[in-house]
Amino acid sequence: MAILPIIIAPDRRLKVISQPVAQVDDEIRRLMDDILETMYAAPGIGLAAIQVGVAKQIIVIDLANGEDRERDPHYFVNPKTLWTSEETAPQREGCLSVPDFYDEIDRPIKVVVDYLDYDGTKQERELDGTLSTCLQHEMDHLKGILFIDHLSRLKRSIILKKLRKAQKLKQTA
Ligand code: NI
Repeated sequence: MAILPIIIAPDRRLKVISQPVAQVDDEIRRLMDDILETMYAAPGIGLAAIQVGVAKQIIVIDLANGEDRERDPHYFVNPKTLWTSEETAPQREGCLSVPDFYDEIDRPIKVVVDYLDYDGTKQERELDGTLSTCLQHEMDHLKGILFIDHLSRLKRSIILKKLRKAQKLKQTA
């Protein structure tokens, strides 16, 4: 398994629309292993393939990361939203591609999704709580959307300015 570099915003590659995976084969599973390992190392609780520069509809999530319990990885390939609750709630979100910034985003509380799992088997699940929020955040990545795109233009521009500055400092260091 390999730890891959995570793309940091602002970066055009994060705006690319991810394409469906034709077949969950060993190559895709290797990629999912690498993305999961990258997410564990970051550390984070969710990561989409596009965040490591691969424009495929692949998401890994493990809400147990950073907590004192067994690893509990979830893999979502080609996820599709079948239903969302009308009821929404704000939750604090962050993103490995937007380091050190957090804000409350309003999203549907429940979603029903279908997707292919690690074995390529079709699954349909109703999700709520943090798993629902996290998957909606990651599914946004597949459409080139970051959580800061849900904030006001002013807030977003301040965050992007700070990120640009931080990257410049890194390059000159
Ligand atoms: Ni993210």
